[in-house]
Amino acid sequence: RTARVVVVGSANADVVVDVDHRPADGETVLGSDAVVSPGGKGANQAVAAGRLGGHVAFVGCVGDDAHGRMLRTSISEAGVDVSALRTVQAPTGTAIILITPDGENSIVVAPGANRLVDETMIDQVTWAAGDVLVVQLEIPLPTVEHAVRRARRADVRVVVNAAPAALLPAPVLEAADPLVVNESEAALLVSGSTAPSTQVPVPGPASDTVRRLLELGPRSVVLTLGAQGAVLGRRDPAGAVVLTHVEAREVTAIDTTGAGDAFVGALALGLAEDAPLDGAVVRATDVAACAVGRRGAQDSYPTSDELSAMTRSAPRVRDA
Ligand code: RIB
Ligand code: NA
Repeated sequence: RTARVVVVGSANADVVVDVDHRPADGETVLGSDAVVSPGGKGANQAVAAGRLGGHVAFVGCVGDDAHGRMLRTSISEAGVDVSALRTVQAPTGTAIILITPDGENSIVVAPGANRLVDETMIDQVTWAAGDVLVVQLEIPLPTVEHAVRRARRADVRVVVNAAPAALLPAPVLEAADPLVVNESEAALLVSGSTAPSTQVPVPGPASDTVRRLLELGPRSVVLTLGAQGAVLGRRDPAGAVVLTHVEAREVTAIDTTGAGDAFVGALALGLAEDAPLDGAVVRATDVAACAVGRRGAQDSYPTSDELSAMTRSAPRVRDA
């Protein structure tokens, strides 16, 4: 039996509008026509791992509506087991996404059906040692905690993606191997404050941030830095902190939506395949680079063939 990646999390219909700038308070901005595409951090992570050929299962909820059907199709066409994807009496989660010309986005999520991902769904999962559980924070926190508890009891490795940014209970943090965060999520965790992210102090150099995150108790940390790649941190057997920087390929950002999720899904798959953490981060960085070069979240994720084509055509060399 090949190790499986189990993703417990959200599925959203992404309603995407291009704007030339984000609206200020009280301002109305005319944008492009809206495009609806499959998203949601959990579903994105499952699809990313599935496209790469992984053995993947998704645990989540959608509504009995067109958006829910779109998501079920996208997730299952990626080769992901959807037998634990439940259709419930609530609207499918929706994300309103504004994209500016630099490829950056801002997102508002209306959770809908994602609020109904509960502990009973976790109790139906069969865990096997060697599997990898992936959680993020767009479903109720008690469900996340329960999944982490169950997984650890079965000796299943846990990847915790603290997105969207939130503080985490100690048992979730301590199970994380790794904890995966971007810079603003890291800033919130390190500050220990529940203030909105705009009020959180900007973290110092990435390596300091990773050290401070390790002090919160996770077994390992991956800090994603967008175009700068990622820094990973873990402790050697003597307890000393070991930091590694993985550079990203240079790509033109078309749409960064869901690139972090592609990273997490690919990372979890690498760990399920028994890759060392740094090797898994290298491939995850390439998968995310591929995703930022195309529009959409799930729609932009590479298959393993597309990934090898990209890694052949864009070697990591710079002009001297
Ligand atoms: O991380 C990107 C995702 O966040 C989008 O697909 C959107 O649905 C929100 O969940
Ligand atoms: Na994309």
